[in-house]
Amino acid sequence: YEEKLIVPRPTIVDRQFTKPLLCGPGPCDIWPSVAEALSKPVLSPLCDELFDVMDDIRAGLQYLFQTKSKLVLAISGSGHSGMETVISNIVGPNETILICCRGIWDDRALEMSKRYGIKTKVHRILFNNTFSLTLIEGIVKILRPKALFITHGDSSTGSVQKLEGLGKLCHKYGALLLVDTVVSLASEPFFMDEWGVDGVYSSTQKGLSGPAGISPIAFSERAQEVIKKRNFKPPFYFDIELLAAQWNCFGNTRQYHHTLSPPLLWALRSCLKEVINETLPKVWARHAETTAHFHKRIEQLSLELLIPKPEDRLVTVTTVVLPKGYDYMEFVKYMRNKHNILIFPGLGPTVGKALRIGIMGVNSTIQVADAIADAMADTLIALKKSSL
Ligand code: GLV
Repeated sequence: YEEKLIVPRPTIVDRQFTKPLLCGPGPCDIWPSVAEALSKPVLSPLCDELFDVMDDIRAGLQYLFQTKSKLVLAISGSGHSGMETVISNIVGPNETILICCRGIWDDRALEMSKRYGIKTKVHRILFNNTFSLTLIEGIVKILRPKALFITHGDSSTGSVQKLEGLGKLCHKYGALLLVDTVVSLASEPFFMDEWGVDGVYSSTQKGLSGPAGISPIAFSERAQEVIKKRNFKPPFYFDIELLAAQWNCFGNTRQYHHTLSPPLLWALRSCLKEVINETLPKVWARHAETTAHFHKRIEQLSLELLIPKPEDRLVTVTTVVLPKGYDYMEFVKYMRNKHNILIFPGLGPTVGKALRIGIMGVNSTIQVADAIADAMADTLIALKKSSL
């Protein structure tokens, strides 16, 4: 067939590179145990060995989300697949979702909802702020949406939203509470059942220190009732009822839905083992201590944190304002080229306004925080223009 090939063989060269310390808002570095797990055998998704791994993952995720709900599993896809699943299973065409917008992920939820034909209402605040529950209550009371969407930790702004009390508030007006915990799970305290969260998803490349591509998700019992009664169908790939049957959430079903990725299942299981061994309270305390230390170092460099209120600052991603005259992209490039540390510039509402520095998962240590702060001190001097 050689003569039939209209596209000649491309050259794929071996590429060498030195991995930087991953200190952006994610992905962050992965645990050595996770790197090892990624090379475990690829099994068919119909093997008992893989069923056991899936059961381990579900148990680990119930611990991580702090929920006794049975509808807990992992979606094949990045955090966005979790967002699609949570929205499209709960809110149908012509039903209303209220989106609390303060960063780029809320705008993504808005865009997705519109594509599903959902009626969207937006409560927008300044990007360096978080929502007041009293204000939200006023809006929910008037709009009576089917669900309210909110982001817990926002990697585009570096803020964390207080959620305690929000579930109760939503339920009082017949709404379900949907929460994005992509960059907060396994780093910030989170209590799904206690806080009345009805739909929640996360990701593996942030606080869990794993590879992207498989996303934890959970629905409350209240959400399960709504799902049972819905009169619309979500996309096949994200249909939580079919996925629950594949993951055997309610027992005696191992129904094939799509082919899962065994390396990602092994990896997620290993991420969960790391958290379980350390325990959630210790993981949360480690993140809080490391980031408090980093913030002190940032203040010693006379740099300003973008989020004014200390209680609104996210433990995983710190947003830092550079003094006038510095260029954000130039700063990021210098940090990579001179110090081999990868930090990110702003995203969405913070473009040109802040650096985004991620310290999470395996990287949440005083040594890493100091390495970044030392490199930033050098970069500030190196890029200081004579006119500054
Ligand atoms: C991705 O999650 C980012 O915050 O850039």
